[in-house]
Amino acid sequence: MKPFQLPGNFLFGTATASLQIEGGDRNNNWYRFCEQGKTKDGTHCIVAADHWNRYKEDIALMKELNQQVYRMSIEWSRIEPRQGEYNEEALVHYRKILKHLLDNDIQPLVTLHHFSNPIWFEDVGGWANKNSPQIFHDFAKKVVYSLGDLVSDWITINEPNVYAEGTYSAGNYPPNKPNFLHFFSCAKHMAKAHILTYKSIHKIREERGFSGQTMVGVANHLRIFDREEGDLLAKIPIKLVDYIFHDIFMEAMIYGKFKFPIGFGTYPLGKDTYCDFMGINYYTRDIIKFSFNPFRLFSKLTVKENTPTNDLGWELYPEGLYRICKKAWDDYGFPIFITENGTCDAKDDFRGQYIYDHLHVVKRLIDDGVDVQRYYHWSLIDNFEWDEGLTPRFGLIEVDYETQERTIRESAKFYGDIAKESGVTKELIEKYSFLQAD
Ligand code: GCO
Repeated sequence: MKPFQLPGNFLFGTATASLQIEGGDRNNNWYRFCEQGKTKDGTHCIVAADHWNRYKEDIALMKELNQQVYRMSIEWSRIEPRQGEYNEEALVHYRKILKHLLDNDIQPLVTLHHFSNPIWFEDVGGWANKNSPQIFHDFAKKVVYSLGDLVSDWITINEPNVYAEGTYSAGNYPPNKPNFLHFFSCAKHMAKAHILTYKSIHKIREERGFSGQTMVGVANHLRIFDREEGDLLAKIPIKLVDYIFHDIFMEAMIYGKFKFPIGFGTYPLGKDTYCDFMGINYYTRDIIKFSFNPFRLFSKLTVKENTPTNDLGWELYPEGLYRICKKAWDDYGFPIFITENGTCDAKDDFRGQYIYDHLHVVKRLIDDGVDVQRYYHWSLIDNFEWDEGLTPRFGLIEVDYETQERTIRESAKFYGDIAKESGVTKELIEKYSFLQAD
């Protein structure tokens, strides 16, 4: 275990999503999903971590952990509970949260879409609806006009690939109606929504003279797909999955190039650059075996055998962060914000080591000339993990869902010390016994 130092201007933070932490909203599609009893563990998102009411307490915890930045999302169904009808009180509440962050010298990075939709939007076809780009764009403009003076850093859409896959391919996300063609409609519409919103965020903030450099991007979920040893046919699904799960989203959302099957290599909204930074969400890798299922792109996803895994069985694979970021830098060359990286570890047995290993990779990347500027750990607090429910514990801070009591985990104290020192010092290695000896 060696000490390492990150640049003094490197920014440390955490990431969350409104639906997963706030509680209290009944106008979103995940509320209906839970009411239908569809979470794997039978839990419900209606309370979650009650952050809507406890945001001051949670921001105080960020401060205690020396956080400099914080990624959050705006709940669309709170802002627009019925199409075209805006809830000004919800916008006022988000302004209070944002002002409280700024008063505590924590810079917000705001996500406009993070997996949840208003029920009315889902009932008009959601992201398969050809009008979805404009419907979303109208909502986004309302938010930026209302909050754009407090927020310079924006993410339009979180993990469009994972959202499309969960909603229209695997079908484990609401409305649980998988449709292979709708996967591609969703990809096309989310890309168009991103481009329209990217341009409007810049236009509105400039017109209104809002201060701070406007930074707009996408939080891209990027994964490593490695071949099962000896499975020569697996090369086919790997190329297919890489193209469909990564390339068509990245090319459309970064340069406006809509590649087959969401376009014909054309630029329907114009050829330009529609990202100011590359948001990368990285967790793990998949080992791919060949399968005869065309609807799963001839791929069977597995986990490498005899490797350490987290509470959800995801391989702990820090080298994947290096591979992902180096390729993104070589391919696109944008400044990188690691907008999510973390693991579910209810006992906090290995989260500290996970943090060390992945931040050490960041050190290697920067030493190799990759412009990684920020790291947002997923997540600040335990939260609602979509169809898995409340069981998986991703939080640096433990939440007792019966009492809503927060407890700072040992790994969180370690992360807070790293943020303070901008690296791992010899003293920190001696302080935290969970760090494995070399
Ligand atoms: C996602 C999200 C988060 C998850 C996190 C852990 O990728 O699903 O952006 O909402 O909670 O990634 O799975």
